[in-house]
Amino acid sequence: MATTSVENPSAKLDSLSAAGGKRSVFDMFRLDGRVAVITSGARGLGYSMAEGLCAAGLSGIAVLDVQSDLGERACERLHSEYGVNARFYRLDVRDEVLTQDAMNFAIRDVGRIGILILSAGVADIVEAEKYSPENFRE
Ligand SMILES: NC(=O)c1ccc[n+]([C@@H]2O[C@H](COP(=O)([O-])OP(=O)(O)OC[C@H]3O[C@@H](n4cnc5c(N)ncnc54)[C@H](O)[C@@H]3O)[C@@H](O)[C@H]2O)c1
Repeated sequence: MATTSVENPSAKLDSLSAAGGKRSVFDMFRLDGRVAVITSGARGLGYSMAEGLCAAGLSGIAVLDVQSDLGERACERLHSEYGVNARFYRLDVRDEVLTQDAMNFAIRDVGRIGILILSAGVADIVEAEKYSPENFRE
């Protein structure tokens, strides 16, 4: 007989899906073999999202950030904890040419990109349609 625990909701869902022959809801969120690019992934929200994606089964991730030491360490951690091919590229996202180069390097080194997370940003209260590239570069 299957037992479930309120402390472990994922075990409960797994046993429910096994009983009904349905796919676990967690399996539907698996990203096995996928490749992601994440800007601002060296720390903070970006790094947390990178960890979440890696835990869901990514095969590769490119971390783009302006801080090299943090970015290199982030990739070392992602590789050692999740076995992911994690590559760091130093980049200031305000530079369109460097951004294009970094994306090309990422495709070459990590593979075809299936997931793009743009976590680098600025907090400004302006309608998006009225926000010019010049504003963004300031
Ligand atoms: N943390 C929050 O609660 C919160 C809430 C709403 C919005 N945001 C926005 O989300 C974004 C990330 O927030 P966070 O809390 O993770 O910030 P954070 O300061 O912890 O991390 C920001 C990361 O972005 C990198 N970065 C900064 N400028 C860059 C640039 N020009 N090019 C490339 N990388 C650059 C930094 O090196 C750092 O690794 C910010 O734009 C922030 O305004 C954050």
